[in-house]
Amino acid sequence: MSKSTTNLHWHQAEVTKEKRQEHKGHKSAVIWFTGLSGAGKSTVANAIEQRLIQEKKHTYLLDGDNVRLGLNKGLGFSEEDRKENIRRIGEVAKLFVDAGVIVATAFISPFRDDRDSVRDLLDEGEFIEVYVRCSLEECEQRDPKGLYKKARAGEIPEFTGISSPYEEPNNPELILDSDKESVEELVEKVVEYLKSKNLI
Ligand code: PPS
Repeated sequence: MSKSTTNLHWHQAEVTKEKRQEHKGHKSAVIWFTGLSGAGKSTVANAIEQRLIQEKKHTYLLDGDNVRLGLNKGLGFSEEDRKENIRRIGEVAKLFVDAGVIVATAFISPFRDDRDSVRDLLDEGEFIEVYVRCSLEECEQRDPKGLYKKARAGEIPEFTGISSPYEEPNNPELILDSDKESVEELVEKVVEYLKSKNLI
C-alpha cells in the first residue's frame, strides 16, 4: 500500500450496486468503444445511448473531447498522460456501474494494458470492449475535424496512427467494422450482444 493510502479505509454503502440495479430494473455495465480518431466511436456510442434511452434504460455517455475539456483538462497526449486519462475514466465508469447505470465510453484508448486495467477494475461481464475498426486510410479520408491533415503537416505531435501507436484489442467482446456497415447495423450488433448477456 502506498504511503498516501495507508490511513484510508473503504466504506461500504448500505445500498449496494445490486440494490441500485434492482431499483432501475436492469444490470449495469461499461460499453467501452475503442478505435482510431475518426473511426466512429462517438457516433456509435451516441446512437446506442439513444437506443437504450428509448428502451427506458438508465445510461450515460463519457466522450473523449468532453472529458478532456473538464475532468481531464490539462492532460495531453504523451503515453503517460493517455494512461492517466484512461485510468481516471475507468474509475469514473466504475462509479457509474456502481450507480446502476449503463455507461458508453468513446476514447481512443490506444494501449492494451490501459484498457485491460479498466477491465480489471470491474466485475466479470461488466466491461464490454467494442473495437470500432476502420482502416487508417479511411479515417484519414474522413478526417472530420481536419486533425489528420494537421498531423501529417507536423502540426500535431504524437497523433494516433501517424506518430503514436494504436494497439488493436486481442480479444474484444465485439468488433464493429465502421467502414463496411452502417451505424444502424452496428447499433443492432451492440443491442444483440447486450440482449445475449441479459443486460437489457
Ligand atoms: S486517448 O488516447 O484515449 O487518451 O484519447 P482521447 O481522450 O480519446 O482523445 C482523443 C481526441 O482528442 C483529439 N486529439 C487527438 N487524438 C489523438 N492524438 C492526438 N495527438 C490528439 N490531439 C487531439 C481528437 O479530437 C480525438 O477525438 P476522436 O473523437 O477520437 O477523433
